[in-house]
Amino acid sequence: MRKPIIVGNWKMNKTIAEAVEFINAVDPFCHDGATYGVATSFLALNDANKAAKNLIVAAENCHFEDNGAFTGEVSVPMLEEIGVKYCIIGHSERRQMFGDTDETVNKKAKRLIKADITPIVCIGETEAQFDAGETEKVIRDQLTGSLADLCPKCVENLVIAYEPIWAIGTGKSATKEIAQNCCHIVRDQVAKMYGDECASKVRVQYGGSVKPENIKEYMAMEDIDGALIGGASLKVDSFKELIEKTR
Ligand code: G3H
Repeated sequence: MRKPIIVGNWKMNKTIAEAVEFINAVDPFCHDGATYGVATSFLALNDANKAAKNLIVAAENCHFEDNGAFTGEVSVPMLEEIGVKYCIIGHSERRQMFGDTDETVNKKAKRLIKADITPIVCIGETEAQFDAGETEKVIRDQLTGSLADLCPKCVENLVIAYEPIWAIGTGKSATKEIAQNCCHIVRDQVAKMYGDECASKVRVQYGGSVKPENIKEYMAMEDIDGALIGGASLKVDSFKELIEKTR
């Protein structure tokens, strides 16, 4: 049985005070039916992590080197020091705007695993790739690169977020059938790389305009174990509703 995992990715939103206020309001409503979490800015991580009792707190990125001349970056040991247990890597916004590649995502995954921090590895195709019928190839290629040379035991503990870029922040969510089919391809690719047992254990999220009104239909699909949620994770009432709908 895979435990569902619902994570709000706040992106570049919420000050430290706003993050803590949100966590204090939402944390008591989390229940054992799923893992719930929020990904905050680096600046808010420490206070958010201290405030959270039930929610897990995730970083939105990390660097693969431990230290050095990398202005503006944050290393895995720095996350480790404040007790962060999850980290998003390879989000499409980082791939598109900040130069993340499958190769750097792979290096980040390796460093996080070494620190016992769970990577939430994001993949997904552009609208042009979707229109050209290239979705499956893009998913398989991104996973081949991003998850290269890991151990099966490490991979089964990962979270993989399939997020079609055309559905992110657009309100144009993928149908539950498309989301299921793509999450199934994710699992199949993991099986090809690391075996069936590993594929049956790895948790796969769908992301892209998930909201309280549609989360149930995604969660009902066989290969979808959770959601990575942007816009709808920013308001307390909306997040509480997401928790209720996944009870
Ligand atoms: O990481 C979250 C995704 O980018 C989805 O964002 O729910 O606002 O479409 P969204």
